[in-house]
Amino acid sequence: RGSEGVRPDLAGRHVLVTAGGTREYLDPVRFLGNASSGRQGYALARAAVARGAAVTLVAANVALPDVAGAAILRVGSAAQLRAAVHEQAPAADVVIMAAAVADFRPETEHQYKIKKESGAPESIPLTRNPDVLAELVGSRRPGQVLVGFAAETGGPDAGVLDLARAKLARKPVDLLVVNQVGAGLGFEVEQNSAVLLDRAGGTTEIPLTSKDLLAHRVLDRVAGLLGASG
Ligand code: CTP
Ligand code: CA
Repeated sequence: RGSEGVRPDLAGRHVLVTAGGTREYLDPVRFLGNASSGRQGYALARAAVARGAAVTLVAANVALPDVAGAAILRVGSAAQLRAAVHEQAPAADVVIMAAAVADFRPETEHQYKIKKESGAPESIPLTRNPDVLAELVGSRRPGQVLVGFAAETGGPDAGVLDLARAKLARKPVDLLVVNQVGAGLGFEVEQNSAVLLDRAGGTTEIPLTSKDLLAHRVLDRVAGLLGASG
C-alpha cells in the first residue's frame, strides 16, 4: 500500500528498524542516556511502510507519534533492545540499526535512590554492552541486508569519513549511514545530511535534507541490495 508516487519496491519484505536512544539506569530515577530523538529511525520505518514492507520498529525511549502500519516494540535499555532485535532479526530481510545504543552501562544498578547525604561518588564504574550490530553481522543469513549508522564528530587526528571507514572495516555491514554529529547536527533536529558508505568503499553524499527524504535515499540503496542478492 505505497503512498502517492512511491514504488512498492519493498513489498513482501520484512524490515526491522531500531530507533531512539537507550537508557542505562544507575538507580531507579537516574540513567546514562544520549541525545537521539528517534526521528531518523521513525522516518525510515515510515518510508519502508510506504514502500510496501512489513515493518517492525524497536523504539528506545522515543516520544514521537506511532508509525501507522508498523509493529512497535518499546524498549528502554541496551539489553532490552538487544533481546528484541535478536528475537526479530531472524525473520527480517533487512535490519536497519538507527538507534543510538549505549556502549557502556553502570556496573551496578542501585535498588534504591542514591542519596546526596552519602556524598558525591568518586566515580561511576561502567561496563561494556554487547555490540548488537556486530552480533548481527556474525549471525546474518545469506541475502539479509544490514544497515548501520555511524555517529561521528571527527577527532584531532581523523576526519568523520576516516572514522566511518574504520568502523565499516570492524563491522562489515552492507551500508553505513555516516552522520556528522555535535553542535546542532544530527540529533534532535528536523533535517539531516549523511554520507552513504558501502562495503566496496563507495560513497554517496546526501546534502542536508528532510529525514524523510534521507530515509528514502537509504531505502533506494537497500532495495538495490535486495535485488542484487535475489
Ligand atoms: N550499535 C549496536 N550496539 C552497540 C553500539 C552500537 O548495535 N552496543 C550500532 C548502532 O546502532 C549503529 C552502529 O552500531 O548502527 C554504530 O554505532 P556507533 O556508536 O556510531 O559506533 P560504535 O561501533 O559504537 O563505535 P564508537 O561509539 O566508539 O564510535
Ligand atoms: Ca557507540
